[in-house]
Amino acid sequence: MDTARIEEVVGDFVHLKKRGTSLIGNCPFHGEKTPSFHVSVTKGIYKCFGCGKGGDSVRFIMDHEKYSYPEALKFLANKYNIEVEETELSPEAAEAQSAKESLYIVSQYAATFFVKQLWETEEGRGIGLSYFKERGFREDILKKFEVGYSPDVWDAMTQSATHAGHKLEFLEATGLSIKNDNGKIYDRFRGRVMFPIHNFTGRIIGFGGRTLKTDKNVPKYVNSPESEIYHKSNVLYGLFHAKKAIRDLDNCYLAEGYADVLSVHQAGVENVVASSGTSLTVEQIKLIGRFTQNITILFDGDAAGIKASLRGLDMILEEGLNVKIVSFPDGHDPDSYMHHVGAGAFRTYLEQNRKDFILYKANVLLKDAGTDPIKRAGIIRDIVESIAKIPDPIKASVFIRESSSLLEIEEHILLSELNKMRSAKLKKSFEGNHRVAPSSNPKPYTSGPPEPLGPPDDLWDDSAGPMGYEPQEPAKEEEYQEKEIVRLLLAFGHEFVNWDKIDDMYIGPFIMQNLSDVEFDDPLCKRIIDHYKSEIDNGRLPTANHFVKHEDRDIADLAITLSTSEYALSENWLNKHLIYVKDESMNLKATILGGIFHLKKRKVEKILMNLLKEIKEEKNEDNQMILMQRYGVIKGVEREISKFLGSVIVK
Ligand code: UTP
Ligand code: MN
Repeated sequence: MDTARIEEVVGDFVHLKKRGTSLIGNCPFHGEKTPSFHVSVTKGIYKCFGCGKGGDSVRFIMDHEKYSYPEALKFLANKYNIEVEETELSPEAAEAQSAKESLYIVSQYAATFFVKQLWETEEGRGIGLSYFKERGFREDILKKFEVGYSPDVWDAMTQSATHAGHKLEFLEATGLSIKNDNGKIYDRFRGRVMFPIHNFTGRIIGFGGRTLKTDKNVPKYVNSPESEIYHKSNVLYGLFHAKKAIRDLDNCYLAEGYADVLSVHQAGVENVVASSGTSLTVEQIKLIGRFTQNITILFDGDAAGIKASLRGLDMILEEGLNVKIVSFPDGHDPDSYMHHVGAGAFRTYLEQNRKDFILYKANVLLKDAGTDPIKRAGIIRDIVESIAKIPDPIKASVFIRESSSLLEIEEHILLSELNKMRSAKLKKSFEGNHRVAPSSNPKPYTSGPPEPLGPPDDLWDDSAGPMGYEPQEPAKEEEYQEKEIVRLLLAFGHEFVNWDKIDDMYIGPFIMQNLSDVEFDDPLCKRIIDHYKSEIDNGRLPTANHFVKHEDRDIADLAITLSTSEYALSENWLNKHLIYVKDESMNLKATILGGIFHLKKRKVEKILMNLLKEIKEEKNEDNQMILMQRYGVIKGVEREISKFLGSVIVK
């Protein structure tokens, strides 16, 4: 756990930026354009203030990769080269191993098989390897991408895999093996060079196999079908090998084919991926968005193709990413151009021919329209439509200005067009949201503020002031106050009390002692409090970490939420008591005593309310008198508490 540092584990999936004492990024668990996903390096945890997800490194991998706990541990162990010793699996246990894992295993087996064929067999070397060599691919690139060769034999791979003990069931589930109508099994890939497709954690999930025949009736590529482990819409070819460079260079080149990715890599440009034949999906854009906000599309040369794919690119703008375009001279794709001009010239070309998408689009369309006024009007609308997709208004206004001069149209005309589109869009999204709004945000304390605002910058700063997330339901005040106690235990339980008139002791036991007469109503808080108490009774002082890593997921979730927020020092109290504790760790005494005595006050108020009800319902006058006396006494207690609160806290 010490090795698997949160910022490194999360950093593989989320583009993190430093802000204050924490790192922030766009949450990988829900779609968002303004970052509300926080990583605290010192606490070793992450928390999204948009969707509420949070946890430690293991939890992140479990949630993100949909792994079980042991799978997540294995994943992290693998990342850090830590050997996990396992007791040998019994045949039954081996059988029980998750099917998904088996699909990964057979895919890896096949990839290794294809690689061996390419490098170590006569057919592989003579046909496959020489093909790659002829195209100018270097050996190190072929090895890096684990390309291989599938022999031109009916069932070579299937035979080899089943002899090695792999189950046909899994070979079929990945699509590597196919059963025909007569029940005969054969290989999907035969006589092709093989490109394994990795997910972005590096596991092989599928293949693309390119034919070496020039026969037009043979499909150029045969691809793995969708499977339990291969979902085409959220996979980008090459991402595993590119992600580090994408993050470091803060840009992702997007090409079309396997060959392009290999060639661009070979030119020394490693931040390149391909959508692999399918048209770009929102999921793929989001995937890139985790690493960088900048996409540069590498377009094939032909003009018709470019025009057709322009519209698809608005989707990228809509995701808030910046889009640039590099197109290649007629007939060339990135692969052919790289081999044509060589690595150095290719790199220079990429640098010097990067054009902004919107201006590029305007140019392409304008060239097409010539002087036809109707066509030109259409283009203007088209361009403004693209600009309207950009979520950032400042960026959008820059494009309006630039398009204005390019299209020779006054800026205010473009702006009014933009505003029309914007308000139409807003209206639509409001109508859409309106229906779901009431239930979408039921618990203010776990879900945080609405996304566009995001949490305040200093949220994660250990010394930060109150968040001021005001509870929205007054009836819940008690629950907030109970949670506040839990928060204080987690945040300050280990600190030492040496306030006058109070014996030296840790804050944890101090709080527990002071609340020994208080019954917690919230079941989850009660569980934590009971657990805390039994730990103390056994001579241990539990840490926040103890709860954050608790096996009970509800407890862990609450602990994470509470240790990442200045929870219930809510405006509710602040307003009520006209106090503002600027820095709660500086004024720890007020914070702790405030927490304890506000909860006590609340409990007393509840007793008073119940008594009042009893008094009203009591018919017997003597009994009523007794109840009223009791009410008087307890009312006195309430007053004392209020007075006490006033004196400790205002100070
Ligand atoms: P390309 O035809 O540009 O392929 O298709 P390529 O990778 O550049 O291959 P070379 O240069 O001819 O060797 C782009 C991508 O479209 C998908 C593949 O993912 C390919 O990489 N595709 C293409 C298919 O899935 N099936 C096909 O029949 C053709
Ligand atoms: Mn190509």
